[in-house]
Amino acid sequence: MIASTRHVHVLGALGRLAATGGWARVMDGKPLEAALDLVDAELLVAAGVLEVGRVGDGTFVPTDLHACYADPTALADAVTCELQQALRQVRGTDEVGRDEIRARGSASAAAATALVEGVVPMLASAHGALVGGRGEFLDVGVGAGVVSATLCRTWPGARAVGIDVLPEALALARDEAARCAVAERVELRLQSVADLDDVDRFDLAWLPQVFVPRVDLDRGIAAVHRALRPGGWLVMPVASVSDDDSELDRAAVRHDAALKGGGLVDDADVRGVLAGVGFTVERTLCGVDQTVFLARRPG
Ligand SMILES: C[S@@+](CC[C@H](N)C(=O)[O-])C[C@H]1O[C@@H](n2cnc3c(N)ncnc32)[C@H](O)[C@@H]1O
Repeated sequence: MIASTRHVHVLGALGRLAATGGWARVMDGKPLEAALDLVDAELLVAAGVLEVGRVGDGTFVPTDLHACYADPTALADAVTCELQQALRQVRGTDEVGRDEIRARGSASAAAATALVEGVVPMLASAHGALVGGRGEFLDVGVGAGVVSATLCRTWPGARAVGIDVLPEALALARDEAARCAVAERVELRLQSVADLDDVDRFDLAWLPQVFVPRVDLDRGIAAVHRALRPGGWLVMPVASVSDDDSELDRAAVRHDAALKGGGLVDDADVRGVLAGVGFTVERTLCGVDQTVFLARRPG
């Protein structure tokens, strides 16, 4: 995270450029011409997000590379999520609206791609089952359904169960599954992970900790362990801070995790809960503001 993107005007400029075509022009090396695009770009240069390209020709280039930069829609949605979350806080409401769930879904597209292309191929038993067309996937916090739909589209024959505590999310997930022509392979349930009662069923489970309140997480991890087949895998991104982060960044990650519902949980605590229910943590991957735990139910 570039620290200046915590500034509301900087986020606004980034989101507007992404939503209205200017960001796509930047990424394609084309000059910006519209007056408002140039005003946004000037602010992003001052903020250290962009730098001026070949002097005087109106082109700009990002100073840094981020996965979401390549997809302006996902970038606009990620910015929208941040702003909507902040607005909810100002208004003192916990209620997550349809627009925010949809924006979160689009912002999860990068995570879905990383899961199917980068992470699952490392998990031999789950990968084999999914590629073989017999794999079953558990999507905890299905939201707008992007992760389940991406997975089912990638592996024909794979099936997903998506659970969420918000009826609004399930309606969006149903639309997304239909849009991707995988509706008959995606089962959706209004259910908390804490109440999951499947046994020995899934080859792979996805559980993003930052959205799940702690009281549900501990019971949920035990329920997911029971729900996986022996040898099945849990992929669990966990919000985390590093000693290299500035104090502001660490505080912002903690604040964001609290607003999303799951709060910040330290690595040793996560390892303790996973081991306590019988998972073996085989590997961890470090991402921006999160650590991804790859844990296995022993075969
Ligand atoms: C931001 S969404 C994840 C985005 C999603 N991957 C997508 O493709 O849209 C996280 C979801 O977790 C859900 N959630 C929170 N607590 C939960 C719980 N205890 N059990 C199941 N889902 C939960 C939230 O309602 C929210 O919709």
